[in-house]
Amino acid sequence: MAAQRAEIAPSRGRLRIPRVACVRGDMEAFSTRRWWLDATEIRTQRLVLRAISPADAGALGHAMWAHRDHLSPWVDVPGIPLSVRSWRERVRRMTVAFVRGAQLLYTVHGAPTSEGLLGCSGLTPSGATCELSYWLVPASTGRGYAREAAAALARLACRRAGARAARIRCRADNPRSAAVARALGAQLTSERGGVQEWTLPLERLCAGY
Ligand SMILES: CC(C)(COP(=O)(O)OP(=O)(O)OC[C@H]1O[C@@H](n2cnc3c(N)ncnc32)[C@H](O)[C@@H]1OP(=O)(O)O)[C@@H](O)C(=O)NCCC(=O)NCCS
Repeated sequence: MAAQRAEIAPSRGRLRIPRVACVRGDMEAFSTRRWWLDATEIRTQRLVLRAISPADAGALGHAMWAHRDHLSPWVDVPGIPLSVRSWRERVRRMTVAFVRGAQLLYTVHGAPTSEGLLGCSGLTPSGATCELSYWLVPASTGRGYAREAAAALARLACRRAGARAARIRCRADNPRSAAVARALGAQLTSERGGVQEWTLPLERLCAGY
C-alpha cells in the first residue's frame, strides 16, 4: 500500500504528462490532450471564429465599452473605462485560459474577410457537459450569428472534447439569450434564483453548422 502511494504522486489539479513522454517526443499524446490548440480558427457558413489573442485587446475593449448599455445587464463589463494597458492584461489572462484549455473564448468576425468584431462566443470544456456563451454588438444581432457561432462550438465540443451535452446559463429576464438556446435545440432544465439553465442534448450538440 505504501509502495502504491509512492508511485502515484498527487497531481494537485495539474495535468500530469509523464516527463519521459515529453523527452521522447510523444507529441501525439500531447496534441490529443491539447486539441484546442488545433482549433484556433473556426469557419462557418458566414463567420470566422478566432481564438482570443493579445492583438484583440483594443477592439474588445472598445466594443465592450461602446456597447456597455447593451451588454452590461448580462455580461461582465467593467463599470469604468479601462486603460489600453488594463485591457491588454485582461485579454492576456483570457489568452492564457485558452492556451490552458480552461476557457476557450473566440472573437466572432464576418467571413470571408474576418474584418471587424461582431461579438464573442465561448466554450468551457468541463468534462461531459461543456458550457457555451455568446454576445454580439448591437449591429450584429437579429441575423442568427450568435446561434451559428455557438452551434460551431457545440460541434467542436462534441467532436474534439468528447462532450455529451452542453449547458447555457442565462438570466431568466434575458429572453434574447434564451431564444438562442432554444433555437440551438436546448431545453430548459432548471431555473433557480433568476438563472435559467438550458441543456443541449448529444443529438443536437453535433448537429451544428
Ligand atoms: C443574446 C444575443 C447574443 C442574441 O442575439 P440575437 O441576434 O437575438 O441572436 P442570433 O444571432 O442567434 O439571431 C437570432 C435572430 O436572428 C434572426 N435570423 C435572421 N437570419 C437568420 C439566420 N440566417 N439564421 C438564424 N437566425 C436568423 C432570427 O430569426 C432571430 O430573430 P428572432 O428571434 O427575432 O426571430 C444578443 O441579444 C446579445 O448580445 N445580448 C447581450 C449579451 C447577452 O445577453 N449575452 C448572453 C448572456 S447569457
